[in-house]
Amino acid sequence: VSDLLDASLNDQPSSVGDVSEIEDRKRRHAEIALSVASQSSRSAGWEDVHLIPQATASCELDEIDVAAEFLGTRLRAPIVIASMTGGHQAAVEINERLGQAAQELGIAVGVGSQRAALERASLVSTYSAVRRNAPGAFVLANVGAGQLIPQGTRPALGRDQLELAIETVRAQALAIHLNLVEELIQPGGDRRHAGILDALADVCSTLDVPVLAKETGAGMARESAQTLARTGVAALDVGGVGGTSFTRIEHRRARDAGDSRRVARGEVFADWGIPTAASILETRATGLPLIATGGVRSGLDAAKAVALGATVVGIGRPALIAAQRSAEAVIEVLERLIDELRMAMLLTGASNLGDLRARTPVLTGFTSTWAKQRGLLER
Ligand SMILES: Cc1cc2nc3c(=O)[nH]c(=O)nc-3n(C[C@H](O)[C@H](O)[C@H](O)COP(=O)(O)O)c2cc1C
Repeated sequence: VSDLLDASLNDQPSSVGDVSEIEDRKRRHAEIALSVASQSSRSAGWEDVHLIPQATASCELDEIDVAAEFLGTRLRAPIVIASMTGGHQAAVEINERLGQAAQELGIAVGVGSQRAALERASLVSTYSAVRRNAPGAFVLANVGAGQLIPQGTRPALGRDQLELAIETVRAQALAIHLNLVEELIQPGGDRRHAGILDALADVCSTLDVPVLAKETGAGMARESAQTLARTGVAALDVGGVGGTSFTRIEHRRARDAGDSRRVARGEVFADWGIPTAASILETRATGLPLIATGGVRSGLDAAKAVALGATVVGIGRPALIAAQRSAEAVIEVLERLIDELRMAMLLTGASNLGDLRARTPVLTGFTSTWAKQRGLLER
């Protein structure tokens, strides 16, 4: 790995055109994500999940314990700042601020897909910035599942490159993102899909850190979750519908590129997928630790996610917006969320996350119908 790191410091991109395309794409993703047009028009389903209110409490608000155990690490709150950025210069400051917030709050933080830095070493600092003020935070490295197999003339990422991605952010875990619907709408997206599961199984058995499989906004069905569990992944991020939508983001980019076929695909499949609440129900039978990402916007949403079976929640866009201002702004947003989570726990008589997970919520509406028809109500 250190040889690769030295070689990559010579900044010899394997394909200049390809890499600057990635830089442009990453910058544009972040820009579009800030606008409301990036948000799904469907709900994550929290309005269908009803915690049972209790009229009396057996402890004080500040005694509520929100600490979570995640992949062998104790987080002070059940929060992962979702994998988002890197690969363009504006990401340096953003990742620095997200890292600082994770450090100060004792939570986890992910970086965006690191392929750009694996192809051009000058971009490594746009990801490693996450560590500048966060020596002790739990950091997740990130690459795309499509990069584990050859795509056209681009070879599959090798073990050395994956280790490099992990080493450059000193990650405790590697998230492999699954984004099938996005790739099909993205101008220039990956065209090959078969063989990814075998490659993933290979990666899980050879790397020294735990590997997570992470959806990015289309959610996860029980069948895929079980298949992924068999590859040896250590955790799942359900990445459900209801928050930031990459079909919407890629639809916007396809429109900018004048790619009418992909514009049409983006319109037809704009809200494709399984909402986050239903995705937790779909995946919990695997018994794997679950991250519930996608449209978590308050501590009450987070409490509902945990009561359904999530281990921790992932927060994307709200953290990205706050990080445009400062690390303090990110901390403020997340502290508000933790405060609301504590309040939800006090009001349901749960003094820790284990208690909360044992409080079976009442389901109504879409989520109830979905869970019944899919046979998901028994834990
Ligand atoms: C600008 C931006 C870039 C993202 N890039 C990645 C990525 O490279 N890898 C990944 O796994 N997820 C990526 N995501 C998805 C997030 O990790 C998360 O799943 C998604 O934003 C949903 O959470 P939210 O509704 O709280 O925003 C990105 C999200 C945003 C907003």
